[in-house]
Amino acid sequence: MTDPKRLLAQFRRDGFAVVPPMTPPEIWGPLTEELPAVLAEEGPQRFFEEDGTTVRAVYGLHRRGGPWQALAEASPLTALARLFLGEDMYVYQWKVNPKAARRGDRWQWHRDFDFWRAADGMRRPAALTAAVFLDEVTEENGPLRLIPGTHTDRPAAAASAGNDGSDGSDGNTGGGAGGGGWAWITSSRNAYALPDPSTEELARTRGVHEATGPAGTVVFFHGNLVHSSGPNHSPHTRTLALISYNAVSNAPPADHPAARQDLFLNHDAKPLPVGDA
Ligand code: SIN
Ligand code: MN
Repeated sequence: MTDPKRLLAQFRRDGFAVVPPMTPPEIWGPLTEELPAVLAEEGPQRFFEEDGTTVRAVYGLHRRGGPWQALAEASPLTALARLFLGEDMYVYQWKVNPKAARRGDRWQWHRDFDFWRAADGMRRPAALTAAVFLDEVTEENGPLRLIPGTHTDRPAAAASAGNDGSDGSDGNTGGGAGGGGWAWITSSRNAYALPDPSTEELARTRGVHEATGPAGTVVFFHGNLVHSSGPNHSPHTRTLALISYNAVSNAPPADHPAARQDLFLNHDAKPLPVGDA
């Protein structure tokens, strides 16, 4: 196991830490068996690529229990997430992005906190995501791209337009079917993307880390970190399990006008029990 103190120092400095396979296959393996059924399940939790048929994202996995809950609560994950956050936390959002072979499209540069603040009324970026690789991730199949140090930039400095989704409309007509008013969040051309030229410039100055590795690798990244991923040009899927943990003290107000339904977001901010890192 990689030294937690070193990982914490890295997370504080860069806003992310990539940990080589840390969750044993017994924990994430059962997810890959259930995944085809989860991707096939119809409903507003499921979002598509622009072709309207390839699944791009499935939300609401905090509601599934079984191996989904087991992974989100697995002690190697929660111990590091708790260490990085420095506060009691709960599972805020739990989704899978399957990025299909040859058809999975890019995710533009963005900060998750910009979405969470606009959509849910989250107050501080006291949240992070653990991205667990359910497939091997290579330079060809659309790895996460992270710009080190951007987690301490002022939030939302360059975020573009606002569509809070509350009117039930799809803020981006090309964003694919499903999800009622929330397709703008998952679209490859979404409303809160950071402007490409200025972010590419930022990427050139600060550098970009492409997070690759075997299945079971975990990338922890801060809620305010600028990140993206390219299209999948390879013949292999690039499935990421994305479990976002939020500090209990940072739970969005229950009366936020545009609060997403429980189908997308966990409103139960009960602290997770956590073991030692
Ligand atoms: C990706 O699946 O590559 C992007 C994940 C995200 O930003 O939510
Ligand atoms: Mn993101």
